[in-house]
Amino acid sequence: MPHKLASYLSRRIPIDHGDGCFLYDEKGKEYLDCIAGWCVGSVGWKNEEIKKAIVAEAEYGRYVPAFLQFRGWEEFAELLIKISPNPKLARAIRCASGSEAVEFAIKCARAATGKQDIVSIDGVYHGHTYGAASVGDACHPSMGPCAPGFLKLPLPHPLRGPSESAVIAEFEKLVLNRKTIAAFLSEPVWTNAGAIAPSPSFYPAIERICRKNKILFIMDEVATGFGHCGTLFGSQLWGVKPDILCLGKAITGGYATLAATLITQSIYLRTFRMPSYVTFGWVPLDLAAARANVEIITRDRLWENAKNVGAYFLEKLQKFKDRPNIGDIRGVGLVLGIEIVKNKKNNAPHVVKALLLQNACTRRGLLLEIAGNTLFMTPSLIFTKELADRAVAILDSVL
Ligand SMILES: Cc1ncc(COP(=O)(O)O)c(C=O)c1O
Repeated sequence: MPHKLASYLSRRIPIDHGDGCFLYDEKGKEYLDCIAGWCVGSVGWKNEEIKKAIVAEAEYGRYVPAFLQFRGWEEFAELLIKISPNPKLARAIRCASGSEAVEFAIKCARAATGKQDIVSIDGVYHGHTYGAASVGDACHPSMGPCAPGFLKLPLPHPLRGPSESAVIAEFEKLVLNRKTIAAFLSEPVWTNAGAIAPSPSFYPAIERICRKNKILFIMDEVATGFGHCGTLFGSQLWGVKPDILCLGKAITGGYATLAATLITQSIYLRTFRMPSYVTFGWVPLDLAAARANVEIITRDRLWENAKNVGAYFLEKLQKFKDRPNIGDIRGVGLVLGIEIVKNKKNNAPHVVKALLLQNACTRRGLLLEIAGNTLFMTPSLIFTKELADRAVAILDSVL
């Protein structure tokens, strides 16, 4: 294979095709895909209904630029708004990637409030563009200066702290001392930090502080949206109502390149003059695939399967918790993590060990990912208990 791509950290598994919850490499080796593109896969690979929708759209032979109208955009926006976790969400911004969805959230929050600071949780990934990288953990020193106006609260880590109440108190203090905060932005479950779910009272407390101080509450559901947490949206786990919602990944199930930012009507009225032109925002071919995907998820209530199979999978994984190097086994729905530590006394992260375990799983035909020192799994929403058993058997032999 030539090496001309400027990609990094890719593992040497040349993928040929997919089928359901499996991927196959060029030599025909089968992999149980427990990552599904990192929260991307929803209805599984090679879905016939989506294939039909793409072929039907291809017959129209059209690309519609943003300065013309397209009925499909309005219908998809209406669908997203209808299923969204806050009835006040009223408008959808078309975009092409999760990073862009986060960029629009930041821009809208600043434009709507006239304030500049965005508060987020340290050590969480929100995308690769400058705003998204700066609100998240991806502004590498080599690309500095990072975008200004971003403040971080520590992640309430289950093994290494601080406590959630300490983080909430820190937010309260920050809000008291600073009148320039436009928004709080976070993932409802910290997928990228290693499948960490806060307790049910954490986000409602943060949301209350936001409401009291006229700070917008933004949920980045690029990874958690569309079912992986066992609810259609992660926000529904905590009963919070985001003013701005960032969507990507499983919105297309991996069949298209498309994302969205949902905003309330009052934010829309204060931001609609802001440039939001995206050349590849909801291209009809992408839209056909994404729409079919979202319709299948909602029609078949696939988040319920994620909840049931995820609970079963998590319970089976618990048998590993006394093994050496296992610091924590946690998850919500089909967002699952096994945290690898140096020893159980200090719970220090052991990234090298996690990588070795990941490689051993790959050799045995199980694909999972690494989030820091955590073995990370987010299989498709159609995952089954039998497949969970198969993954557990491979993990058993490796751990
Ligand atoms: C929570 C979250 N937000 C934003 C992004 C950025 O999405 P994209 O890679 O589509 O730009 C990601 C990608 O991993 C993500 O996990």
